[in-house]
Amino acid sequence: MSKNSTSAERSKTNAYNSRRKFLQATAAAATVPYFYSSPKTLAQETASANDRMSIGVIGSGGMANGNMNAAKQWVNVVAIADVDSERAESSNQRMSGGKADVYEDYRHILERDDIDCLHIATPDHWHTKPLVEAMRAGKDIYCEKPLTLTIDEGKLIRKVQKETGRIVQVGTQQRSTFNLFVKAMALVNEGRLGKITSVSAAIGGAPASPMIPVVDAPKNLNWDRWLGPAPAVDYRNLPVEGKRAHTNCHYEFRWWYEYSGGKLTDWGAHHVDICNWALKLNGLKEGPTSIMGTSEHPVDFKDGVPQQIDRYNTATAFNFTVNYPGDVKMTIRHDTRNGVLIEGTEGKIFVNRGSLNGKPVEDLKDNPLPEDAISKVYKGLPMEGNERKAHWANFLHCVRERKEPISDVHSHMEMLNVCHLAGISARLDRSLKWDDKAEQIVGDDQANAMLGRPYRDGYEIEG
Ligand SMILES: NC(=O)c1ccc[n+]([C@@H]2O[C@H](COP(=O)([O-])OP(=O)(O)OC[C@H]3O[C@@H](n4cnc5c(N)ncnc54)[C@H](O)[C@@H]3O)[C@@H](O)[C@H]2O)c1
Repeated sequence: MSKNSTSAERSKTNAYNSRRKFLQATAAAATVPYFYSSPKTLAQETASANDRMSIGVIGSGGMANGNMNAAKQWVNVVAIADVDSERAESSNQRMSGGKADVYEDYRHILERDDIDCLHIATPDHWHTKPLVEAMRAGKDIYCEKPLTLTIDEGKLIRKVQKETGRIVQVGTQQRSTFNLFVKAMALVNEGRLGKITSVSAAIGGAPASPMIPVVDAPKNLNWDRWLGPAPAVDYRNLPVEGKRAHTNCHYEFRWWYEYSGGKLTDWGAHHVDICNWALKLNGLKEGPTSIMGTSEHPVDFKDGVPQQIDRYNTATAFNFTVNYPGDVKMTIRHDTRNGVLIEGTEGKIFVNRGSLNGKPVEDLKDNPLPEDAISKVYKGLPMEGNERKAHWANFLHCVRERKEPISDVHSHMEMLNVCHLAGISARLDRSLKWDDKAEQIVGDDQANAMLGRPYRDGYEIEG
């Protein structure tokens, strides 16, 4: 491997790096849930630039830039890898004033022993491989959601996390939104809704597109490496006045099953996660038993495979019911009012990124939550800020303390299995029975074949 370019001197050893050996030695303790209490805030501990954690960024698009802006007071970005050199260079200016080293191949970052922490914000089809390799290289990682494209990838990630004990935070930042989603979980946990009978994730469907023509990929983009483990296809782009171009690449990858699960995993990773969290707090011990529903796609499908290759193909509408033991139900549906509805025998609440309402919320005026209600549901210290900032603070604390963060890979995969099952059911247009212990679809070989995906030569993931 050769380095593409170096734009500045490397960050030198800092306070965190000096603790690296100790952190690695104690990594095995990483999977124990806890409530963190520190005498100092993260801001106090990272007051000087030398005390900040050195971080490498893999994939420097919209989300990575937003995340690094949220975490900038606590971290120094010392390396950036992107297969689009223009994006890497402009992100370098924004994230580090041009001081980070820039690479095309992320493996250069994994080789560096002066970098403990990574942020992975590549498209979804490029999450599992660098994440697994990074854990094995001894790094702690904040990886964007959804962690995987398939259920089998989730099994591998959980296995490697257990083997290595690395700290992995998933970018489902709703879990750190204290005034909305976390408060909703506290209400559930305190029994203010009674026994939960149903949860519902309302998310919009994916957009459709016209035919998108094949054009030359921009010179600054290594298209073959952007595709990586996905099938080799041509680059497509159709400019749209005043809006993002239709493409099978940057940002719009979300609307192609080759690189994403569409809205079912893009937003499902957020709202199905909240649904699943509520069910677990309410005592649900087992996963789902079956899924059934309807969906609409902008292209025809045969044997689960889109038959037109020149336009977006993920579901534009859907309505799925997921059945759990004990007559508990989850629905995942296309709805213009995005949010999560949680219904119990004593009341119901609706929560989204702008509001939390329902009678149990109104009742808080007369009967407030106990002081420890948030700490009983939230692993890690609630820090300064909310949502994205607090989620980063939670991650960085957990790295220091070698504790499991609030969005751990195990809870994430538990709920992402449900999103992936909905995707398989949508593509095959039939109901599925699920054996949660075996993580297998019951009596359906064709559906079971979709639990994994083939990887292109040179992009295999070591099991
Ligand atoms: N948590 C949230 O609320 C939230 C919001 C938006 C996006 N996301 C997630 O963040 C991820 C990125 O989304 P985005 O909107 O920033 O996408 P994007 O297309 O803008 O950025 C992805 C970047 O990764 C780069 N890339 C692709 N393959 C690479 C490789 N092998 N090595 C290095 N770089 C590579 C691309 O060139 C691009 O610059 C997605 O998984 C998405 O689901 C999460």
